[in-house]
Amino acid sequence: MFLYQFEDLRSAMLEDATAGLSRDQKSLSSKYFYDKRGSELFEAICELDEYYLTRSEIKIMERHIREICSSLGKRCLLVELGSGSSSKTRLLLKNMDDLTAYVPVDISGKFLQQTVNELEKEYPALKVMPVVRDYTQPFDIPDIPDVRRTVLYFPGSTIGNFPKAQARAFLERLCSILSVGDGLLIGVDALKDVSVLEAAYNDSQGITAAFNKNILIRLNKELEANFDINRFTHKAWFNSEEKRIEMHLISDTEQTVTIRDMPFHFREGETIHTENSCKYSDEDFRSLVAGLFEIEHMWMDSSAFFYVYYLRKR
Ligand code: AVJ
Repeated sequence: MFLYQFEDLRSAMLEDATAGLSRDQKSLSSKYFYDKRGSELFEAICELDEYYLTRSEIKIMERHIREICSSLGKRCLLVELGSGSSSKTRLLLKNMDDLTAYVPVDISGKFLQQTVNELEKEYPALKVMPVVRDYTQPFDIPDIPDVRRTVLYFPGSTIGNFPKAQARAFLERLCSILSVGDGLLIGVDALKDVSVLEAAYNDSQGITAAFNKNILIRLNKELEANFDINRFTHKAWFNSEEKRIEMHLISDTEQTVTIRDMPFHFREGETIHTENSCKYSDEDFRSLVAGLFEIEHMWMDSSAFFYVYYLRKR
């Protein structure tokens, strides 16, 4: 059984892009990175030496998979937010006892379809119900019989994409669609040496640069924009006040770009802020969820680069 929730993603994108590029600090939302090409580039980032996040999280999951799965319990409805290619999820799917259904929610329909096709081959007995949806917008959890507990899975430190106040608001919303006792399994990137953080987002092969610039290619293709990607440079740095990595695209020259004939002027050196990736100490994260969720477990790797939390709605 399949469930699709379509919406007009393109008109939302046009509105978001033109609003973002009209601000003093120009910005584009990082959720628009993930078309098919962007999702593939992100998969390539996950393999990079410098990008420790995915490796660290997988190590934690592998080492503690039994404890993780027994915390989630039997007859779970596992809902993954921004499922991508679901590589970490396979670990859960393989090891979970009596899983009732798996609901991957992803903004990229094509990529999601591909993942679902693979999963159905690998796990013929598993009930998979994909939802093509921007999970930052309100959405309903499919109503499925025989579910004991709904567990949201939000891996990868994607929570870091929200500035801290928005992260709190997002967690409040997740809380509101859950019932008491339901869970949230969430991956969080830890605060660490700035040099390690900055290297992870300025890799030597330029894959992150291609990923960042892909957002402009996408505006060209989907919104009839005319960005010359050779006139923008990728750069990421740690903002120590906000405790986050920021990715920017820097205009190499003064230039004017149009989106459907709307002009956007760039000064030389002016930037488009394309992504935040907030980093949390354990203490910071605990205060972020305080009052919403109880922390039932926390697992981390030996270098304390990454945290995985299992939270229960209070
Ligand atoms: C998928 C949002 C967790 O912030 O590290 C990777 C995206 N951006 N390299 C991150 C990303 C640049 C990634 N998240």
